Amino acid sequence: MAEESQKWVLMVTAQTPTNIAVIKYWGKRDETLILPINDSISVTLDPKHLCTTTTVAVSPTFDQDRMWLNGKEISLSGGRYQNCLREIRSRACDVEDEKKGVKITKKDWEKLHLHIASYNNFPTAAGLASSAAGFACLVFALAKLMNVKEDQGKLSAIARQGSGSACRSLYGGFVKWIMGKDDKGSDSIAVQLADEKHWDELVIVIAVVSSRQKETSSTSGMRETVETSRLIEHRAKEVVPKRIVQMEEAIKNRDFPAFARLSCADSNQFHAVCLDTSPPIFYMNDTSHRIISCVEKWNRSEGTPQVAYTFDAGPNAVLIARNREVASQLIQRLLFQFPPPSDTELNSYVIGDKSILQDAGIQEMKDVEALPPPPEIKNNIPAQRTKGDVSYFICTKPGRGPVVLCDESHALLNPETGLPK
Ligand code: DP6
Repeated sequence: MAEESQKWVLMVTAQTPTNIAVIKYWGKRDETLILPINDSISVTLDPKHLCTTTTVAVSPTFDQDRMWLNGKEISLSGGRYQNCLREIRSRACDVEDEKKGVKITKKDWEKLHLHIASYNNFPTAAGLASSAAGFACLVFALAKLMNVKEDQGKLSAIARQGSGSACRSLYGGFVKWIMGKDDKGSDSIAVQLADEKHWDELVIVIAVVSSRQKETSSTSGMRETVETSRLIEHRAKEVVPKRIVQMEEAIKNRDFPAFARLSCADSNQFHAVCLDTSPPIFYMNDTSHRIISCVEKWNRSEGTPQVAYTFDAGPNAVLIARNREVASQLIQRLLFQFPPPSDTELNSYVIGDKSILQDAGIQEMKDVEALPPPPEIKNNIPAQRTKGDVSYFICTKPGRGPVVLCDESHALLNPETGLPK
């Protein structure tokens, strides 16, 4: 290793997407190793709109491992962080940076400390799977810094020990987390089913639903389900294995009707096992239910699904439209039902890929006010238009997997001090 007196800092910055499961992971067979009771399948979301950026740094001047999340220092003492750090460290290899005159050997890594800074480009509290992107990014960035030679599948098994769903964020496009059989979890890894270009017509609209109540965390929720629900056994043994095969087929053939039917059915069954938990867990609220009704009515009136919906451990709706044209009709329907509150700018109410809004012919508030009721509810119950039930919408699409950001301007740590910028 270079002289201790030399104040070098080596850094890597990476960006990792979040993902949304269309066949859900719910329930563990091993709490520490985070081994699931069924396979799951997800779509990776475009990191342009939803991602974590993490800078990891090493320097002989650091006297302990430290981490900052969205600018605030957080503790790394939790078992999940410790497990990821230990697994990555044990695989560290020699690293040489000729420009800085630094040589770190495999053995040096045991003594060296790390600084980690992580930033989500979306509100952490909005319930948008921030831990998935976060742990995936931590593991991916550390693997690069420490010259870990393991392939992406092995890295996914390490990220899994941070948060189950994180293993699926190691790939772009469409990803399967294979539950595996090994007690140690060596075969519980993520694999890519298809990259994001395979089915690039899909458009994703996320409704971030306002909620007053603090939700049960996924970790404790799924533990309670496994302990108290009989329905979860049936789901894991009988239902999911068949759905996994059908979903893989639907993705391979870009069969939207099958994809939508399976996604909606699996989301609904996941929430059914939550209700079958004792005491029952309610993740969706009235707004979530209204969004489901709106999509179901529309899909029925068209005779074939136009939009798939899926909800994780919270009230937010993730809506997947079969193409851009459907997405522009979807955003019209959503803005008709959930117009922005009077004090909210349209620009901050619909974020992400704004071109969907343009396609829908919506440029300003008066365009929202002029929206007609969707035909399928016109002659039905008077359409409700409520303000304030949705905080905002994010328009996005399936996206790529993790990347290293080479441009130092993206780094979250100061290259001289290794402290947050
Ligand atoms: C409903 O991965 O957050 O989003 O493994 O305990 O960290 P831990 O749980 P987490 O659970 C995600 C559950 C889900 C479904 C899914 O992403 O598959």
